[in-house]
Amino acid sequence: MITAQQLNKQFGIGNQLVFREDASGLIVADFDNGYAEAKLCLQGAHLMMWRPKSQSVPVVWLSRDAKLAIGKSIRGGAPVCWPWFGAHATEPGFPGHGFARTVPWQVIESGTEPGGETRITLRLLGSEKTRPQWPHDSRLDLTVIVGEKLRMELITENTGNSDFVIGEALHTYFQVGDIGAVRISGLDNCDFWDKVGNTTLRKQSGAITFSGETDRVYVNTDAECVIEDDKLKRRIHVAKSGSRSTVVWTPWTEKANKMGDMGQPDGWREMVCVESGNAIENVVKVATGTRHALIVEFRAEQV
Ligand code: BG6
Repeated sequence: MITAQQLNKQFGIGNQLVFREDASGLIVADFDNGYAEAKLCLQGAHLMMWRPKSQSVPVVWLSRDAKLAIGKSIRGGAPVCWPWFGAHATEPGFPGHGFARTVPWQVIESGTEPGGETRITLRLLGSEKTRPQWPHDSRLDLTVIVGEKLRMELITENTGNSDFVIGEALHTYFQVGDIGAVRISGLDNCDFWDKVGNTTLRKQSGAITFSGETDRVYVNTDAECVIEDDKLKRRIHVAKSGSRSTVVWTPWTEKANKMGDMGQPDGWREMVCVESGNAIENVVKVATGTRHALIVEFRAEQV
């Protein structure tokens, strides 16, 4: 396995991009440039945190009880859900949200954008471990650009001889002042699958507010969402392309307590997930020899 030292030699960029080995043995890339700071774990290509320097509080949230461990997903940040979202359609034994978030990725490129933002690209190819769950030839690249905005591009390429279908999401946890003082706009009139209790199809009316467990897959929507946060007095804009589903999730007290890594006593109140992806009827067919790109861009403004 490649070491942090080797990665620094090949891909490090002064203080802007530094690789280090965490106590867990996993490698983390620390970004720090004129615009922002961020952290990304190579396992899962998992962006863990992003804070533009205009903000005193991170925009992408990491649980204070998040644990880094080999083969385990990290609570917070932006887990890459791929090649399926949620439970596998036919195999209950396969991991929820796919395997991409818990396996090692390779760094293939890094650099500085013309505006001074810092860029990294990681790649996931099939392996002996993933083939039983994904017997297709594919190349999955995640490019992350750390600046005053955060941009992530998840590119799925079908390098095999037959078409395949993927579900996916950039399952981003956003930091908020208090979940009870948050509204999410952009999804008015959208259909959504409500996953709390028996899954039912419903229609959104107005902005989303929170007063209990919320687990919804909004479908057939390209819309930009805005997280309006009265407590932190800021708005987070979540823009996307190549994505027809938006998932909105908060576990609330009971579920958060069962999860055990949301940050005691009530870390769950400081986050909301707004996930850009393709799920349920929006899964994507990637024909042999073609690519599909899921792109998100986040920015925060004080109001
Ligand atoms: C959301 C799902 O996307 O992720 C929820 O809609 C799920 O049902 C949540 O609980 C967290 O999933 P996990 O596997 O990271 O605990």
